[in-house]
Amino acid sequence: MSRRLLVTHALPYANGPLHLGHMLGYIQTDIWVRAQRMMGSEVHFVAADDAHGTPIMLAAEKAGLSPEAFIKGIRAGHEADFADFHFSYDNYHTTHSDENRELASLIYARLRDNGYIAKRDIQQLFDPDKQMFLPDRYIKGTCPKCGTPDQYGDNCENCGATYAPTDLINPYSVVSGATPVLRDSEHYFFELSKFESLLRDWFGGKLTKGAPVANPGVVAKLKEWLDGGLKDWDISRDAPYFGFPIPDAPGKFFYVWLDAPVGYLASFLNLCNKTGLKFDAFLSADSEAEMHHFIGKDIINFHGLFWPAMLHGAQMRTPTALHVNGYLTVNGAKMSKSRGTFIQARTYLDAGLHPEFLRYYFATMLSDTPVDVDLDLKAFEERVNSHLVGKWVNIASRTAGFVHKFFDGRLAAQFSAEQNELWRVLISHYEGVPALYESGEFAEAMRRFVLIADLVNGHIATKAPWLMAKNESQREELHQVCSFSLAAFRLLGGLLKPVLPATVEAAEQFLAAPIADFDAATATLHNHSIQAFEPLLSRIDPKRIEAMVEASKESLGAAPEAETNTKKPAKKDSKPMTENTAATATQDAAVIGIDDFAKLDLRVGKVLACEFIDGSDKLLRFELDAGPLGKRQIFSGIRAAYGEPEKLIGRNVVFIANLAPRKMRFGLSEGMILSAGDGGSDLFLLDADQGAKPGATVR
Ligand code: 2FM
Ligand code: ZN
Repeated sequence: MSRRLLVTHALPYANGPLHLGHMLGYIQTDIWVRAQRMMGSEVHFVAADDAHGTPIMLAAEKAGLSPEAFIKGIRAGHEADFADFHFSYDNYHTTHSDENRELASLIYARLRDNGYIAKRDIQQLFDPDKQMFLPDRYIKGTCPKCGTPDQYGDNCENCGATYAPTDLINPYSVVSGATPVLRDSEHYFFELSKFESLLRDWFGGKLTKGAPVANPGVVAKLKEWLDGGLKDWDISRDAPYFGFPIPDAPGKFFYVWLDAPVGYLASFLNLCNKTGLKFDAFLSADSEAEMHHFIGKDIINFHGLFWPAMLHGAQMRTPTALHVNGYLTVNGAKMSKSRGTFIQARTYLDAGLHPEFLRYYFATMLSDTPVDVDLDLKAFEERVNSHLVGKWVNIASRTAGFVHKFFDGRLAAQFSAEQNELWRVLISHYEGVPALYESGEFAEAMRRFVLIADLVNGHIATKAPWLMAKNESQREELHQVCSFSLAAFRLLGGLLKPVLPATVEAAEQFLAAPIADFDAATATLHNHSIQAFEPLLSRIDPKRIEAMVEASKESLGAAPEAETNTKKPAKKDSKPMTENTAATATQDAAVIGIDDFAKLDLRVGKVLACEFIDGSDKLLRFELDAGPLGKRQIFSGIRAAYGEPEKLIGRNVVFIANLAPRKMRFGLSEGMILSAGDGGSDLFLLDADQGAKPGATVR
């Protein structure tokens, strides 16, 4: 039976347009979903706008609209952006829906009836003018530590101190300017600490048949929070609030983060109601179906602590896996409105940039680890032009014309012996691609694309069909070269299809050969008739990128930070948590957090070859078997310590797999091998005991 998957990505707040930071994780999800469909899984990909909360309520008021009218307009914009970036949702909904009200109330009632909800009074700052309690971010004042004015209610951007809003000197309400007063209010709490053993089981894979619920770094972070002690979670907010009323609590509303993840289920329920799919088959405690959430690293706590506990406490299944992505930087820095790098999805499209170019660039940067991804605009232009146009589309544009001109649009009946051999090599590189998509190693899959494309282009360059075409006696060979190239072009289309769905669809039409799944792309297309070739993609004109940056500078009039749900700029070492956190991240810059360690993709490599290099008295050339990552060539400066390199063949080493490849005089170095010692002859390779598999993660 095929796998049944319910897949979601983090729900965007309905308070403003999508930007490229949003698109990183969302595109990652769509690529994974499309790859899963090509692997034969039954996938239900659902999302929604996250429509509740104080920021949205205030933004609507500012816009002179009811919250309902406001979120409707925002949703229309989001849906248009998603459609134009070729998202393949099965359903897109909103958390402000009947289904979500019903499910949030049901889950709450079960949690309450099962004894997981407590009530107690808390003191909170209240805006006497606006008659509302103020979330921390709506209170500013002077830092009690360093005296810097205009600091937010939870931490000081100048000295990094964290404190309670009540500690601020001369506090004021960001909403009205009034001086807030302390008031008592009864709040409802979800007793997370009662779920410690459930969470330990879940982290340990006991509820997922041993499968890891997240990347090891993410699981380590979750465990760290758990070990630090779980605090109760405040799930109620007082009126006025845009959200769902708590059924048995007049004047109280569910905190937006209570009903936001429930929104995943609400969107799915809405889909079930439309299609007849069975909701319980996916959500019951004993469901065999899988539930995958793609999220950013700033919301791991909600999805890795509160959410599984809520689901379990309400007698529902827990998630199968969290797939966590890092933040997006642009040109090496945090997105900035003044530099024009805070780019909205619509601004990108309006500049005339192809949506699938961004999908491709992100794919080349994404792995299973939640590392930050940099959109280097120059690299973006060069990579897209070189890989997609130069390496892929060019295969077809250099060969299809001859097939029409000389062979009536029909491909040859067979490959040459040499091509049969090359085809086997191409297929051997292609075969691991579905597994790479499955494990989120998209960058490695794209590397395979480049590898295969380079082999095909090498074949074309050697055979030079444009010269053969001038010689009547070489017709058969010309036919075979072009046919082989077009079959390989289609193979690459299969590899790229999750990333470039529309472009590959156009390629399928040109080849008159649909690519329904990964296997289908491996056909040799002997005797197959093709359609006329139309250029599928054209190179990026750098002027479009400039125009996009310029246009992003112009959109400076956007709402100020405190009035949106946009996160405050995350400091590199600040904890990705908002409130009620159990985190205990270090404040000491000399000590790294587990997040920093998680950025390193350390792997075991088995040495396949190791040799001296002519012209270098420092380096050895290694070829490593890196298991699912394929083979890696690495140049390592340990020659003085290892005078007999051939003796290293067969042993395990540890290397950094996600270090940017470095072009050296002798070739490309794809990682760094770790050794201990002071350098020179005092260097000792790190080993992994026999039994460690090539490609195994070192953690
Ligand atoms: O952080 C955010 O942007 C939230 N709107 C994500 C919500 S994800 C889910 F829980 F709804
Ligand atoms: Zn300060």
